[in-house]
Formats: sequence, C-alpha cells, structure tokens
Amino acid sequence: KPKCYSLLAIILLTMLILVFFSSGLLSPRSQTPGSPEVGARVKELDHLQVVTLSRMVYPQPKVLTPCRKDVLVVTPWLAPIIWEGTFNIGILNEQFRLQNATIGLTVFAIKKYVVFLKLFLETAEKHFMVGHRVTYYVFTDRPADVPRVALGAGRRLVVLTVGTYARWQDVSMRRMQAISDFSERRFRHEVDYLVCADVDMQFDDHVGVEILSPLFGTLHPGFYGSSREAFTYERRPRSQAYISRDEGDFYYMGAFFGGSVQEVTRLSKACHQAMMVDQANGIEAVWHDESHLNKYLLYHKPTKVLSPEYMWDKQLLGWPAVMKKLRYVAVPKNHQEIRNR
Ligand code: UDP
Ligand code: GAL
Ligand code: MN
Repeated sequence: KPKCYSLLAIILLTMLILVFFSSGLLSPRSQTPGSPEVGARVKELDHLQVVTLSRMVYPQPKVLTPCRKDVLVVTPWLAPIIWEGTFNIGILNEQFRLQNATIGLTVFAIKKYVVFLKLFLETAEKHFMVGHRVTYYVFTDRPADVPRVALGAGRRLVVLTVGTYARWQDVSMRRMQAISDFSERRFRHEVDYLVCADVDMQFDDHVGVEILSPLFGTLHPGFYGSSREAFTYERRPRSQAYISRDEGDFYYMGAFFGGSVQEVTRLSKACHQAMMVDQANGIEAVWHDESHLNKYLLYHKPTKVLSPEYMWDKQLLGWPAVMKKLRYVAVPKNHQEIRNR
C-alpha cells in the first residue's frame, strides 16, 4: 500500500510540474500580466515556424558559395542581417501569405511634416509589403491635411488624431508613448507586426516581409563602418540611455524599427519610461528617442537587423557599391524651415 501511494504522489507531482512549465509561468518574457492576448497571434506567425509550402522552383542555396562575401550577414547572436542577395523573396512571400500576416505601418506627420505624407504613402503603395495585408496608421494633429492616396487591395489607412508638442525633439520622442498606448488599445487587435517609420522618407525599392521578425532594428547609414567608440550613443551616465565606450553592437537609426506588436509594445513602453526618468532628472539624451532605442536594443538583442539599404541618404552618402539596392531613402529637407511652425 505505501509503495502504491508514493508512486501516485510521484505521478501527481510530475503532472503538476508539466502543467506549471507548459503554462509558461517560468518563462519571464512570455506574457505581459493583464494582457494575455498580446503576441498570441505572432507566436504562430513567426516565419521560422514550419509551414506547408507547395512545389516551388528556385536557385539552390550553395553551402560552399556564400551569398555575400563583402558584408556581415549574421550577428554574433545568430540574427540575420538583411542585405540584397541573402534572401529569396518568393519563399518568404509564400510563408507569410500562408500565415495571412497583417502589417501595421506607423508614421507621424505632425505640424508641417504632413507635406511628406503624399510621397511616403504613394511610394509605400509601390514598394512596401506588396501583396500582403497592410494598415497605415497615420498619427497627425492635422487630419484634414492627410492626402487621399489610392490604396491597393488589402490595404487601408487609419488617421489617428493626436496632440502636439512645441519642440521638435518632443514631437520625435513622444512617438514612443503614442506607439505604446495605441499598441495596447488597438494595434494588438488589428495587426501582427508593426513597422515604425519616419515620414520624411520615400520608398525607392522593395521593402517586404524579409524584414519581419519579433524585433528588428536598422543600421544607421552614417555608422555601419564605424567602431563602437565612435557611435553617437548617449555617453553621460546620468541618462537612462547611457552606454559605455566598451559596449555596443551596432548604431541603430531611430527612423525605422519594428517587430511583433508584443515586442514593439515592450520596446516603446521601455523607451518612453526611460525618457520620463531622464526628464525628471533634467537630462535629455543626445539623439532623443534614437539614443533610448539604442540602449534598448543593446540589452534586448533584435532577432533581425536591417542593413542600411533600409535607411539611406543619397544626398549625404551617394551610392556605394556595397549597397545593391537603396530601398528607403531620405527626402531632402530644410531642417530649420520644416521643424518650426
Ligand atoms: N516629426 C513630425 N513633426 C515634427 C517633427 C518630427 O511629424 O515637427 C516626426 C516625423 O515623422 C519625422 C520624425 O518625427 O520623420 C523624426 O523627426 P525628423 O525626421 O525631423 O528627424 P531626423 O530624421 O531629421 O533626425
Ligand atoms: C544624423 C541624423 C540624426 C541622428 C544622428 C546620430 O545623421 O540626421 O537624426 O541619427 O545622425 O549621430
Ligand atoms: Mn527623419
């Protein structure tokens, strides 16, 4: 009899442990308390998940022939760095279509920056996630000035009217707060991925599902060849964005990042909170939200890194041979003129 009881106890204990583990209680990053839905969809949608494809004919990947010899194509934590030549868009489109992925593109057009919307949207229609479901989320204080742009099938535009700030630095930084607020209220019910972009830009070439991953950042075009000491991270230890000279992987640009709604919510919330702490301490990071983004991505390694093909400035940097394509590029602007009323 006692033997039988102890066997029963062991079975019960094993079952209890199994239930405990499978409910994700021991995985600290599994879910945000109180918002069980966040990320539930994208877990199923990660492109690395196995999906059943139909027959496809395409060039064979060659183990002894690297796709690129001139650039780093994988980070030390094994996240792909996305360059032209490293991916087959046909395979990726098939995988993401099978999962019916929906992509939200957030863009802020506050005050005079509404003038950039037309070109941004028109070129996005030509190059951004073509063939997939897309929702543009346009944050603006001037809803009447949002241009009417003809949208392709499966694509829609939502205007989100928001307040504004006097300083352009605050306009830029407060994007993190708005993104985190709307992620919880709205985006998580409507889209799987979020791509957060500057508006003073245009799409010149393909930007598609190859960028999608739980968390991605983009290499700043001015620093992809620089050593970490030269990165323009925030260097004052009093700031929450501080990074010491002996740390840092890459210098990411604040103008293009994204990921699953769950991860973008975490990122934007963390950056906003850090900026609020800085404000209370009377300090503002040297490159504002970009400094905080860099701090976040140093300690939360992105699962994909976009090459500067995805963030370029032709006027400033020309067209070096290493860039096979320039996909998302700066529209020349007069900072003084456009940033002031
Ligand atoms: N922005 C805006 N109105 C402003 C200032 C900034 O809408 O008055 C938004 C806009 O989306 C812009 C982004 O904040 O692209 C970042 O600012 P900006 O592009 O001027 O920074 P830069 O890329 O020049 O560093
Ligand atoms: C500039 C860019 C700024 C900021 C800075 C970082 O080229 O215009 O927005 O990213 O680099 O050093
Ligand atoms: Mn910009």
